[in-house]
Amino acid sequence: MKIAIGSDHAGFKLKESIKNYLIELGINVDDFGTHSEESVDYPDYAFPVAKKVVKGEYDFGILICGTGLGMSISANKVKGIRASLCNDLFTARLAKEHNNANVLCMGGGVLGEGIAKEIVKVWIDSSFQGGRHERRIAKITAYENKSTNSN
Ligand code: RB5
Repeated sequence: MKIAIGSDHAGFKLKESIKNYLIELGINVDDFGTHSEESVDYPDYAFPVAKKVVKGEYDFGILICGTGLGMSISANKVKGIRASLCNDLFTARLAKEHNNANVLCMGGGVLGEGIAKEIVKVWIDSSFQGGRHERRIAKITAYENKSTNSN
């Protein structure tokens, strides 16, 4: 498994913890920054990670900002991305099982390190269930494919 991870300044500390946790789990992780708590703009980290995931270079992405909102809004602008903001375990499981999400977003200002690691573990251990969920994802993909810039 290969994961791309990124954050802004508000997610930096949690990103470092999660990166180390993934390494402990023996998972291959590439860090797309940021590399300090100096103020940056979350789209500059969301787009590169999301594009790599869509290209198939990573199994999924993890993006962390203060709330997780900026990262999820940005990543979801990239065609093929289903970014899910998961600040609890239930959402993390269903994001995979029902939504086949390919980017996990979390809030560094919302979550403690312990629960964030659990969310990541649940995410990794959960799989898409297919079935009726397949049909729903297909509708999103169809909409995405026919959408123009003006929607
Ligand atoms: C940065 O101050 C903050 O706005 C950002 O980390 C994020 O929470 C935005 O959604």
